[in-house]
Amino acid sequence: MLFRQLIDSTTSTFTYVLADSQTREAVLIDPVREQHHRDMQIIEELQLKLRFILETHIHADHITGAHELAQETSALCAVAACSGAQGADQWLEEGDTICFGQHHLEARCTPGHTAGCLTYVLDNQRMAFTGDTLMVRGCGRTDFQEGSAAQLYDSVHKKIFPLPDDCLIYPAHDYQGRTASTVGEEKKHNPRLAEHIDADAFIQIMEGLDLKYPAKIDVALPINMRCGKPNNESV
Ligand SMILES: [Fe+2]
Repeated sequence: MLFRQLIDSTTSTFTYVLADSQTREAVLIDPVREQHHRDMQIIEELQLKLRFILETHIHADHITGAHELAQETSALCAVAACSGAQGADQWLEEGDTICFGQHHLEARCTPGHTAGCLTYVLDNQRMAFTGDTLMVRGCGRTDFQEGSAAQLYDSVHKKIFPLPDDCLIYPAHDYQGRTASTVGEEKKHNPRLAEHIDADAFIQIMEGLDLKYPAKIDVALPINMRCGKPNNESV
């Protein structure tokens, strides 16, 4: 399998490319609109056939590049059915599989950061793309976009921590230069979600965070709720 982790340094957002090395069929997770040319260049240079553009959730901190990529390729945009977004080609439910060549990703509903958060697990359970549900030594905020600390706790403990300890965790962001972790590492060392921290303690931690209003949310959310389509295009 071919795998690339890309970063948008302005918003510290990771975009992932996964492809079957033989058939060249590919999926791209969480593209950033400003990185459209970078992403197209990789697709063209590696001669990939982009099949799916997947969102881990409706982002509040950057505008998705899904629409532009879908326009230039034959790829389908996919988001969680319960995200409330319009304009997708496919709405994903718990357990849905996204196939690319010999490989597939399994969609797991992991609400809490937003109601429509998905974690994508690779077929052999060696990689999980957790969006803002589980981050390296942290997690996404739960104070807007239908966030719920209780739900996020359950999502991580019931849908992500049961994966093998050596399953690699690839988040949507990291602000301290870290690129990945493992389930085992986060069970031990995540300061909010480690196994010894119970749900009440986690909820208290999340309620005590004094977070700023996200800079781009008012611009990004309405566009991302249309899978990146501009207002003058129908969804
Ligand atoms: Fe987010």
